[in-house]
Amino acid sequence: MNTVHSIKEVRNEIKKWRKEGLTVGLVTTMGFLHEGHESLIKRASEENDRVVVSIFVNPTQFGPNEDLEAYPRDIKRDETVCEKAGANLIFNPDPSEMYYDDASTTVNVAGLTEGLCGAKRPVHFGGVCLVVSKFFNIVTPDRAYFGEKDAQQLAVIKRMVRDLNFDIEIVGCPIVRESDGLARSSRNIYLSNEERKAALILNKSLNLAKQSLNEGERDANKVKDIIIEKLNSESLAKVDYVEIVDSSNLKPAFNINKPVLVAIAVYIGKTRLIDNFTFKM
Ligand code: PAJ
Repeated sequence: MNTVHSIKEVRNEIKKWRKEGLTVGLVTTMGFLHEGHESLIKRASEENDRVVVSIFVNPTQFGPNEDLEAYPRDIKRDETVCEKAGANLIFNPDPSEMYYDDASTTVNVAGLTEGLCGAKRPVHFGGVCLVVSKFFNIVTPDRAYFGEKDAQQLAVIKRMVRDLNFDIEIVGCPIVRESDGLARSSRNIYLSNEERKAALILNKSLNLAKQSLNEGERDANKVKDIIIEKLNSESLAKVDYVEIVDSSNLKPAFNINKPVLVAIAVYIGKTRLIDNFTFKM
């Protein structure tokens, strides 16, 4: 496995593989890899001849008061994780390799980005779509792998790929959790011991919602109230949003009569965590 920093080096490698008729899978990440990322890389290496992992803390998807500077980085450890999981190439560019100072092109997926995290993080999905389309053009993969942990991101990328005719299959992969239920996230490292325990409230509140849906509750507001009440029982938790949306268009669902995404964002202390599940009827 090889780590490269320039677009040219990636393209040279891809050209060689293409000449041999090999298929290519891409896993885009911001690094500080955990078992969630690992599951994507493993899946990609099962389904493709070669796997590229991008490791890039993308400045354009962070708002002015977000954690761009503090975002954890550990490329040496990431290289070990990638190698073990079956990656063939890491692309780890500097921001100056990815962005021209006078860049003027934006990628905006309307509608799907208006609610949930998009409403709370106004520049976020513009930055995600821009960087992911650049990675798609640089790597030209056959398949790209994204986690259901970021359910809105997955929906937005699928829509972007359809609308812009990228010839790439987008593969959604299930959420990987710690043994106690906390969804794995690079940001979990920010949590103190006490906050780490408190963070379990996200998964617990979603499990209560799942239970009530399985018992037949169909009023989205009632299900939301169950989640909010549970989250409020944890003094270190502050709700950012609790939403139940139609899975197909991410618009608010009221009476649950088709598949819905139940998605939450919660501050545990200063750390913003997200979690979700999809309820299929
Ligand atoms: P990052 O948060 O590093 O996540 C990279 C990929 O790993 C995303 O597709 C994300 O959904 C997936 N992932 C993260 N935690 C997961 C978990 N617990 N289980 C399963 N998959 C998980 O998402 C981003 O980076 C960026 O926005 C990016 C797409 C790289 C663009 O900069």
